Amino acid sequence: MEVKAKVALVTGGASGLGLATAKVLLNAGMQVAIFDLNQEAFDQEYKNQDAAFFKVDVSDESSVEDGMAALKDRFASLHLCINCAGIAPAKRILDRAGDAIPLAGFAKAINVNLIGSFNVARCAAALMALNAVDELDAERGLIINTASVAAYDGQIGQCAYSASKGGIVSMTLPMARDLANLGIRVNAIAPGIMGTPMLLAMPEKVQDALVSNVQFPKRLGYPEEFARLALHMAENAYINAEVIRLDGAIRMPAA
Ligand SMILES: NC(=O)c1ccc[n+]([C@@H]2O[C@H](COP(=O)([O-])OP(=O)(O)OC[C@H]3O[C@@H](n4cnc5c(N)ncnc54)[C@H](O)[C@@H]3O)[C@@H](O)[C@H]2O)c1
Repeated sequence: MEVKAKVALVTGGASGLGLATAKVLLNAGMQVAIFDLNQEAFDQEYKNQDAAFFKVDVSDESSVEDGMAALKDRFASLHLCINCAGIAPAKRILDRAGDAIPLAGFAKAINVNLIGSFNVARCAAALMALNAVDELDAERGLIINTASVAAYDGQIGQCAYSASKGGIVSMTLPMARDLANLGIRVNAIAPGIMGTPMLLAMPEKVQDALVSNVQFPKRLGYPEEFARLALHMAENAYINAEVIRLDGAIRMPAA
């Protein structure tokens, strides 16, 4: 896809990976819409940038439908959708007393990370389907969902998070197959440990322990590295139904 002047939606674009991605796409000449809950962070981060904010809860059916309708009113079309909105709760299946934890925390992670991504993707695909095809590849659009290496190597306390990200990995191929005849591609990126507020909020000791599992380069990933991969996926039409790990070859140990 030639991205210049086309329209991109970035969910979770007020912070972290979504923020870095939106900035790279703006620099590449795209028009950018953000779906996020945090308007204050958006106002802070996009002071001199021409992006449009829509207050949308990705886990809510009508909130996403209303947001997509507002995006259509503003931009008329959509070519690239990058789902970065997400949460990373950590809870063992049993609490310290040995009791089963309440179900609500598990359900919330699935609702935001997995159902939220599908919720946005379904509405994004419907809007992309209205695009005229581009000349080179008869392409109409691309959806990128954000998984995690936790889809493969979940840590203690990550049942909900890993399940939500495993779902992202698993739905990549069927979603790409569903949309192939419309010229819409679907990919996912599975980041390792990236230097965003989600990770930087952890105690330094925990960050250091995580970095010790990275093979090379031995550091947190830069959010811009995620953003550049997303842009490359947009520009390279032959990458489809693919989940790419972006992780410095990290493989998480059992404990
Ligand atoms: N940071 C990492 O190391 C890492 C690693 C692997 C995967 N990921 C995934 O990448 C994605 C982005 O993570 P990040 O590190 O940039 O996090 P972040 O906390 O910096 O940003 C997440 C953004 O999502 C928004 N958000 C949360 N719930 C929402 C909802 N219901 N509706 C709309 N917006 C909502 C938040 O307001 C925030 O702006 C997440 O899906 C996360 O699981 C992150």
